[in-house]
This record gives sequence, C-alpha cells and structure tokens, in this order.
Amino acid sequence: MATKIFLTGATGYIGGETLYQLVEAHPEYELTLLVRNEERGKPVAAAYPKARLVYGSLDSADVIEREAAAADIVIHTADSSDDQPSARAIAKGLAAGHSAERPGYWIHLCGTGILTWYDLAHSRFGEAPLAEQAYDDIGSISEILSLPRDAPHRDVDEIVLGASAAGYPAVRTLIFCPPTIYGRGRGPVNQRSVQVPRIVEYALQRGFAPVQGAGLSEWDNVHIRDVGAFFVRAVAAALDPATRDDPEVFGPRAYFFLENGDRHKWSDVARWVADEAARRGLLPEPAVKTVDDVPSLGTNSRGVASRARKYFGWEPRGPSLKDEIPDAVTVEAERLGKV
Ligand SMILES: NC(=O)c1ccc[n+]([C@@H]2O[C@H](COP(=O)([O-])OP(=O)(O)OC[C@H]3O[C@@H](n4cnc5c(N)ncnc54)[C@H](OP(=O)(O)O)[C@@H]3O)[C@@H](O)[C@H]2O)c1
Repeated sequence: MATKIFLTGATGYIGGETLYQLVEAHPEYELTLLVRNEERGKPVAAAYPKARLVYGSLDSADVIEREAAAADIVIHTADSSDDQPSARAIAKGLAAGHSAERPGYWIHLCGTGILTWYDLAHSRFGEAPLAEQAYDDIGSISEILSLPRDAPHRDVDEIVLGASAAGYPAVRTLIFCPPTIYGRGRGPVNQRSVQVPRIVEYALQRGFAPVQGAGLSEWDNVHIRDVGAFFVRAVAAALDPATRDDPEVFGPRAYFFLENGDRHKWSDVARWVADEAARRGLLPEPAVKTVDDVPSLGTNSRGVASRARKYFGWEPRGPSLKDEIPDAVTVEAERLGKV
C-alpha cells in the first residue's frame, strides 16, 4: 500500500520545497495537503494534480485530526513553530488513529530560533556568541530538552514532546530545527525565505543594509534544497526498519538541527548585500548602518547538526549563503520593481 503523507504548508517556502522534492523522489506517495481554501489551493492543484487537497485553517481541528489519524506520516510546516492549536490537533489525531502495531509518525518543523532564548532574556543584541551558546543536537540534547519555557517555539515543542511521551510507541515524533534558510524554493506559491530577503528589501527601500548593535551576532545557515532533502530522508527513515523504531530518530530525544558548517555574522550578510546592490546600481554606495528595528538580526543561534549526519547520512550540497546573495538581490529588486 502506498505511504500516506499529510503535509501542511504546501503554499509556503519550506512546505513547498518539501512537496517538490517528495514528489520528485517518490511519486508513489499518496499526498494529502492542507490549504486554507480552494482559491489558495489552485496553484497547488495545478502543479500537483495527483495530490488530494483538504481545506481549512490551522484552527480547523476537525480536518487536521481526521487527516493525522488517516496518515502514516504527518509533515507539519504551516506556521508550525508557533501555532499551538494545529499541533494539538495533530497530536490528538495521531493518537486516535494509530497503535503500536501501526504507528503514526510526525515530522514537526520548528527552528533554531529556540537557541536565541539567552540573548532575548538578557536583551543582548548584536553581541558575539558566548561559548555556552553552542548546542550540539546529540551532545547537548539534555540542555535542548530543558530549554526555558519562554524560549521561542518552546510552547509548541512541548506539545510535540508531550504527544511523544504520552503516545509512544503509537505516536512517534521528530522535531526538525533548521537555522537561517536561504535560496529560492521550488514550491508552487511562496519561494522566498524571511531573514535574508528582509535585509535585502530593507536595503533597497532605505538605501543602506541594516546591522543591529555591534553586528557580531551569528547564526548557522542552510540552503533550502538541503532542507527539502532532509525532509525526504526523514520520511524514508519513518519507513525504514533500521530507523523507524529507533527512539533517537523518532522519539523524545529526536531533535534534528541542520547547518552547512558555514556560520554567518549578520554584519557580513549586510556588507555582502550592500556591496552587491551598489555594484548593480541599486544603491548609490555600499552603505551599512546600525539600526534597532530588525530584531532577529541581533541574536545568536549556533547549533551543530550531528544527528542528521549520524542517522541520515545527510550532508549539505547547496551553494553558500554568500554565493546566493546576488540572486537574493535580484529577487527583491524584481519584487520591488527596481529592475
Ligand atoms: N524560513 C526560514 O528561514 C525558517 C527557518 C526555520 C524555521 N522556520 C519556520 O518554519 C515554518 C514555515 O516557515 P516558511 O518560511 O515556510 O513560512 P511561509 O513561507 O510563510 O509559509 C507558511 C505556510 O503556513 C501556512 N499558514 C500560515 N498560517 C496559516 C493558517 N492560519 N491556516 C492555514 N495555513 C496557514 C501558509 O499558508 P498561506 O500561503 O495560505 O498563507 C503557508 O503555506 C514557520 O513556523 C517558521 O517559523 C522558518
């Protein structure tokens, strides 16, 4: 029988790329996609005529519970890091529709925003990372599992971890935390990320690239295609007898970070953007200025993706963030009608 996957966020950047890669790699999977309404679903249905679309918002608990109960694997990407009602509905549906003999798998998209909690708690913006702000997703799993309750996304992670604690072995969860994601997605609707496009947009609109504080804060990064490849491997892991019963892969310790080893300083990104925009005549000069209205640029997020490498043999293949800056400038210049 074909594997049944229930995916949320098909119109989004990450969910769209995931959909693209899943269909490329496994056209035999039976896909059910949650989209808000028929209008929103039109480009999705046009690109993926074999997929089944169901309509509803993240508050449509009835739809989400029903589909989670029926699916073999749920991939949640629609505002997944922060939306509690949809996470609760998935937990409930998986528990209702699965058993130890027929487990339900939940691949939950979070983000390494969770690791910024210390800077947020201490209003520490633009500062270089402290040594203790580096988290390895295997070596530091105890610290990751006991992050403060008010860490970003932690409220939803607790719902996922709670579903695992209450429902294992019928309910098996994997929390996936990518850092800054960059590059053009290939989904049917949104193909644009958040942080880097926001810097480029800011620069093209205001005439300078923004840096917060001293500009020394650092995040890991990963290309969108490497994120899509991770989801394909995570689905394969839910089907593979060698990994599907391993609680380190699906279970309460299954936090997966992702990074390509090429961490960026936000001030370097601003500099690359300003140089590229000025080179192309989109800025009069390559100006970088200190601001305080782009908060996510001031925090640190440093994770080591040991788990994906160890259990999935995942390795990054996409071009570097620096190499993608010219295309990021092209995308925003086109959006803003500047080329
Ligand atoms: N982009 C990054 O760099 C990054 C990195 C790490 C983690 N994350 C996290 O990953 C998740 C997805 O990010 P993304 O960049 O893919 O975002 P995105 O492009 O904005 O996509 C969000 C998706 O969620 C859907 N959605 C949002 N609210 C909804 C609602 N109330 N009802 C139904 N659907 C709803 C959107 O549907 P519509 O198209 O209809 O609005 C869209 O499909 C977020 O939680 C984000 O915090 C992002």
